[in-house]
Amino acid sequence: MKVIVCDNYDEMSKKAYEVMKPVLKDGAVIALATGTSPIGLYKCMAEDYKKGNVSYKNIRSVNLDEYVGQGVGDEQSYVEFMRRNLFNNIDIDLKNTDLPNGKAADLEKEVERYNKKLAENPIDIQVLGIGSNGHIGFNEPGTAFDSLTHVVDLTANTIKDNSRFFKSIDEVPKKALSMGIKNVMNAKKIVMVVNGANKAKAVKAMIEGRVTTDCPASILQLHPDCTVVLDKEAASLLTK
Ligand code: GLP
Repeated sequence: MKVIVCDNYDEMSKKAYEVMKPVLKDGAVIALATGTSPIGLYKCMAEDYKKGNVSYKNIRSVNLDEYVGQGVGDEQSYVEFMRRNLFNNIDIDLKNTDLPNGKAADLEKEVERYNKKLAENPIDIQVLGIGSNGHIGFNEPGTAFDSLTHVVDLTANTIKDNSRFFKSIDEVPKKALSMGIKNVMNAKKIVMVVNGANKAKAVKAMIEGRVTTDCPASILQLHPDCTVVLDKEAASLLTK
């Protein structure tokens, strides 16, 4: 695990883009995350595209997760987040983008479809954020390290964290579809972005703690090519 500590959010985003850029070649499969952490990275991707330095015409994307019941047209859905923050700002073909479908009539069938898709499209780079409880995607503490895409019951902690995007906590979906930890670990390269003091405890557990399902992100210690880019606040509890 390579750890890079940056002065601020902008520097963190730029560093993460430096890790990502060499992978952005025709035929690449990129796996994306939602949340406030990667928004700066997505801005760097869009800016570099606008400068003519990279094209996404022949790049495909998948995403980590989606709320059950949410989809295209729902402001807080992850598919709309991705369109707003990235897909509408680059030349990727929407047909080449995929997220778990939170509105699927049969969620188990959707899980099967998504796992098949991931098996057929090996991920060249996986972008990650981390939840304040150490979750990656929506793989909450206790999730098996060999998990594949599955339906998740969100924890009270995650519902509270994510309520900031909704009018009230009651509107936060209670379930999600999430790629599993094994799907994430199968990526050839991983770049994680983390900012803010509220993530410092999770970051310490991920980097300096034992590899344990209590902190799902701790499994990344075992990935052969994982870079974690932190701002100073997120790194503040690290001892090394
Ligand atoms: C959500 C997402 C995660 C994300 C996490 C942190 O729960 N499912 O993929 O990493 O939130 O979000 P943020 O970057 O907004 O702190």
